[in-house]
Amino acid sequence: MFTVLLVETNGAVIDALVKQLDEQIKAQVSVVPGLDQAKSFLTENQGKGVPDLVIVRAVLDEVPVAHGLLNFVYEQLNRPPVIVMGNVEFSGIEFNCLPDRFKISEFSKIVTKALHVSRKELEALHRPPYTGISIKNFYGMDKCECDVFIRISKKNCDDQYVKRLHTGDNFDAVTLQKYESMGLLEFYVRSDDLSLVLSAFEQKALKQLDEKCVVAELVQIGSHQFEVGQDLLLKLGVSDVTMRIVDTNIKVMTNALVSGVVAPHNFGELLKALLANKGGYNYKHSFLLAFLCSTIIPKMEWGKNDQMKSNIEKMIYVSFMHDIHLQEEKLVRIHSKSAFEMMALTPQEHELVEYHANKVSTLALSMPRIPAGVDIILRQHHGTTNGVGFADGASGSLSGLAILFIVVETFTHMLLDFQVLQLGPKAILKKMERDYTLASYRKVIDAMAEMLKV
Ligand SMILES: [Fe+2]
Ligand SMILES: [Fe+2]
Repeated sequence: MFTVLLVETNGAVIDALVKQLDEQIKAQVSVVPGLDQAKSFLTENQGKGVPDLVIVRAVLDEVPVAHGLLNFVYEQLNRPPVIVMGNVEFSGIEFNCLPDRFKISEFSKIVTKALHVSRKELEALHRPPYTGISIKNFYGMDKCECDVFIRISKKNCDDQYVKRLHTGDNFDAVTLQKYESMGLLEFYVRSDDLSLVLSAFEQKALKQLDEKCVVAELVQIGSHQFEVGQDLLLKLGVSDVTMRIVDTNIKVMTNALVSGVVAPHNFGELLKALLANKGGYNYKHSFLLAFLCSTIIPKMEWGKNDQMKSNIEKMIYVSFMHDIHLQEEKLVRIHSKSAFEMMALTPQEHELVEYHANKVSTLALSMPRIPAGVDIILRQHHGTTNGVGFADGASGSLSGLAILFIVVETFTHMLLDFQVLQLGPKAILKKMERDYTLASYRKVIDAMAEMLKV
């Protein structure tokens, strides 16, 4: 915790600054009314450690306080950083200056600068003591890396966290099912232990890279890890470890598609395995999208070798991420303006669907190492250039890869619904030929027909 010495007498200013320092850096603030008290405070605290920051008025109640205090600090062995509110001239030590009247945003910036706190340190300060992680993410693990808690919420009381599994305890799927059957969705870990848990998830994801398996197993393993990766990225945000888990997910998908385990000749087998898979619709349509995009790109004559590989990698990222904010199947299934308008949605669901392309594009921009251009395809994946809502019809003014994705996604949704629609791949493509008349869209349909040999 940061400690701050504030030299001030105006009650309103004290309230505003103490509130800001608490919100910004969780500081414990000592307030003194003048120079002598400030000197005594600093002298008394020399043994225990000086405050992390001193904030003082240049002139307080018509007394030039800052100059005297800077002089005093100059003579100390341990010199805390000083912020002066108002104009003062002093040479000998560096200090930070604010104008006499300042905005709270300026104050906040100068506090961060004076304390040299990084964004990461600020995030850590604001992290709640416990972090929730979906119980479903723990399937496939068998040992606790740290203590695991459940949260008990009571009206008018702070949440309580009760330890249910101890560090080193073994558990299995039956244990997890027992908690889920009680209606629990999340386990909690101490936020300080989060990196231990995430590393274990990462190890689990990495293990998949070595697993040689047939299509059905691959779909099964991929389904679990896909959901873990999406959930962690969404809930915990972009960090080194969540990015490593996402990258591993992408690598597993890429390996499966490039190694030939899943290839055009066993498309039927893949479809059967996906339909039989207990994972969510989001995973099924994303895996199918990744498969179809990566097998169609080589037929699009958009360059060879490295360029082709880079386009495939982009489309796998887009397939993985594009609907990440839509957790419910009914929302993922909305794929056209008419479906969006007809579906009965709550105002929150409506907003989520309307802005999800825009939102995920912004998320992609904050992710390091993501291939260039992925954010654009994500933003355009429902046909609008700003990522808001759904396009009225096919538009030619989108990126080529976005057009490919839109066409393939239309096919994917219809294929996964074939039991309702009673349309096979050939009939779906015929219908799409009628719906898409622009050459750039027809080219993708032709490539798909060629790949599927229909
Ligand atoms: Fe989608
Ligand atoms: Fe979408």
